[in-house]
Amino acid sequence: MKIALLGGTGDIGAGLALRLALLGYEVIIGSRKIEKATSKCEEYIKTLENVKRGCTLAGKSNEDAAREADVSILTIPWEHAFSTAESLKESLEGKIVVSPIVPMEKKGGCFQYCPPEAGSAAEEIARILPNSRIVSAFQTVPAAKFCNLDAEFEWDIPVCSDDDEAKKVVMDIINRIDGLRALDAGLLSVSRMVESITPLLVNIMIRNKIKHLSVRFC
Ligand SMILES: NC(=O)c1ccc[n+]([C@@H]2O[C@H](COP(=O)([O-])OP(=O)(O)OC[C@H]3O[C@@H](n4cnc5c(N)ncnc54)[C@H](OP(=O)(O)O)[C@@H]3O)[C@@H](O)[C@H]2O)c1
Repeated sequence: MKIALLGGTGDIGAGLALRLALLGYEVIIGSRKIEKATSKCEEYIKTLENVKRGCTLAGKSNEDAAREADVSILTIPWEHAFSTAESLKESLEGKIVVSPIVPMEKKGGCFQYCPPEAGSAAEEIARILPNSRIVSAFQTVPAAKFCNLDAEFEWDIPVCSDDDEAKKVVMDIINRIDGLRALDAGLLSVSRMVESITPLLVNIMIRNKIKHLSVRFC
C-alpha cells in the first residue's frame, strides 16, 4: 500500500514516515519543493538503516504524492492545510485522506481550539474534498516522541469517519504501529471533540512542565 505524507517534511511527518516505512508501506514524502522531499527521504532512510534495510521512501511534489498514493495524510499546519487540500482536489478524488489537523491558537496565555465553520478541521477537509474518503486520526500524537524510534509509549488514537471501510483501513494501519491502539470514535463530526483534546494537552504540558503527553482511555 502506498501512503503519502503531504507536507511530510515536518514534525509529525517524520514519525509517520519512519514508522510506516518500517512496517513495509511504500511511503511517499510530499512537499512544495521536490528537493526538500528528496533530502528528507535521504535523512529518514539513513535513520532507518540502523534498524531495518530495504524500506521504501520516495520524495515527490505534494501533487504527485497525492496522485500516486492509496492513502494520503495531510501533515500540514492548519493555517495552510485547507488551501493545500483545495489545490490537490483532483489528485485526491476517490482516495482515503487522513486529517491529523488541529486548528488552535494562543488566546490570553492559553491555547484554545479554534475550529473552522464546518465544525472541525476534518469536516472542513470533507467539505473541500467531497469526492474523497475522509478519516480523522493522529491529533493527539506528540511528534517529538513519535519520531524517536527508541521511545516506548502506549497511546490511543481515536479514529472518526463517515466511511466505515476507509475508517477500517486507517485503523488497521494504526494498529500495526508499535505502541498505538486505534479506537473507533464514531462519525466524522466527533472529530471536533478529538481535535479539541490537543490544545488541552499542550496547556497541561506547558503549565506543568511535562513533555510528550498523549491519551490512553482506560
Ligand atoms: N507536531 C505535532 O506534535 C502534531 C501532532 C498531531 C497532529 N499534528 C498536526 O499535524 C499537522 C502538521 O503538524 P507539524 O507540526 O508536523 O507541522 P510543521 O512541521 O510545522 O509543518 C509540516 C509541513 O507543512 C508544510 N507547510 C508549511 N507551510 C506551508 C504552506 N504555507 N503551504 C503548504 N505546506 C506548508 C511544510 O512542508 P514543505 O515545506 O516541505 O512543503 C512543513 O514541513 C498540523 O495540522 C498539526 O495540527 C501535529
